[in-house]
Amino acid sequence: MQTITLYEKIAEQIIYQIEQGILKPGERILSIRQASLKHKVSISTILHAYLLLENKGIIESRPQSGYYVRLQINALLAEPTLSSPRAISTEVDVSQLVFEVLNAIKRPGIIPLGSPFPGPELFPHQQLNKYIYSIGRHLAPWHAVGDLPPGNQELRRQIARRYLQKGYILSPADIVITAGATEALNLCLQAVTKPGDTIIIESPVFYAVLHAIERLGLKALEIPTHPRQGIDLSALANALKNQQIAACIIMPNFQNPLGSLMPEENKRALIKLLACHEVPLIEDDVYQELYFGDTAPVPAKIYDSKGLVLHCSSFSKTLAPGYRIGWAIPGRFQNRVEQLKLMHTLALPPLPQMAIAEYLAHGAYDRHLRKLRRLFALQMQQMLQTIAESFPLGTKLTRPEGGYVLWVELPAQVKALKLYQLALQHNISIAPGPIFSAQQNYQNFIRLNYGHTWTADYAQAIKTLGRLAARLI
Ligand SMILES: Cc1ncc(COP(=O)(O)O)c(C=O)c1O
Repeated sequence: MQTITLYEKIAEQIIYQIEQGILKPGERILSIRQASLKHKVSISTILHAYLLLENKGIIESRPQSGYYVRLQINALLAEPTLSSPRAISTEVDVSQLVFEVLNAIKRPGIIPLGSPFPGPELFPHQQLNKYIYSIGRHLAPWHAVGDLPPGNQELRRQIARRYLQKGYILSPADIVITAGATEALNLCLQAVTKPGDTIIIESPVFYAVLHAIERLGLKALEIPTHPRQGIDLSALANALKNQQIAACIIMPNFQNPLGSLMPEENKRALIKLLACHEVPLIEDDVYQELYFGDTAPVPAKIYDSKGLVLHCSSFSKTLAPGYRIGWAIPGRFQNRVEQLKLMHTLALPPLPQMAIAEYLAHGAYDRHLRKLRRLFALQMQQMLQTIAESFPLGTKLTRPEGGYVLWVELPAQVKALKLYQLALQHNISIAPGPIFSAQQNYQNFIRLNYGHTWTADYAQAIKTLGRLAARLI
């Protein structure tokens, strides 16, 4: 475990005061001498703390005047408006483009603003490796058989315990362990559809959903989705009334790419509406633990009394991106999903499942999550601020309350695919808007990832992007 120095501790206290609104944007903070007296530390320790905060863009020094909390840009840039996809179901063909975008983030030295992954440096690899090693030494040979679907019993028990903490009572037997949320989504979708069916999706939507739809020969019907409140329920109600819909895939908590969080009453209304039409909901909840507010949002699954919600999540965004461990809670489709898992990839390797179960049992997960949430909230502010300072006039931004992606609307003349090509020439990857739509909408949108440790290189990459975007106008 990394130890925190005295000046970092003081910097953290100041960040906390800003987060709590005790120190407001634009307000002067203690002078170096006052702070040194207050904290009973040397002037140079305070200087170090202030320098750290300055480098992170949290405070600024004004000549002859002192140090100030930097102005937040929240009020300065507008939010993108509600999306308006055409109300027709479409066949999907985006996989080639997504493949290229994902390949680009593997380039050595690239700044991965287009990546769907958080920074690998932020996770407790050493701790998990220790468990892998100690469990591996005593692993009985029949374990591979014991962990056949629905998966490792202890891991399912630990996952069930976490839901219990959130007020959702379920048994380990309700959970199927999968290869990440990607497999969970694919299996759930397959469990409730047949080729040719129409599926309701959000617009914009996470591209892996489009992949699954493409792979299974389904059609997508995109529904407008609000950057703060999530899917438009009246448009959804209309679609359900007028068309034959086989299922619906939605992210109520911190939607990717919008970051939207459905209010609780909307989640309840969504579940009621779908139950009325007997349409299954596949709920993708991979970012639920990464909230910036005081309390965790609840999964929509909590309101499901008919077993119609197939809830999917994973540890990829919060604990172990490389382990590929996710799960589904498929409700009344449990048997079908278990069977499909068996037919699809049979089972998962036992070691990663057991190491995660052990990590959860030791109780360090919540502390790790608290750190991650604070870091992402701060880095979001830093990215927003840098974009506000360097992108062309007319740029619009989301203000996610969780997760680690930003959705950016550029002036209409800026074509995201062109910007993507130009950015690659500067060793910067971005995720262009058209990969988030079955209709290839969002031609002037990009998604940016603020989940990697914010350094001068990231700030510079954002400034370069702003310059390239301005060039395209
Ligand atoms: C919204 C969303 N759902 C699902 C996934 C897939 O998660 P996993 O890596 O666990 O397969 C991702 C990963 O980027 C995601 O952003």
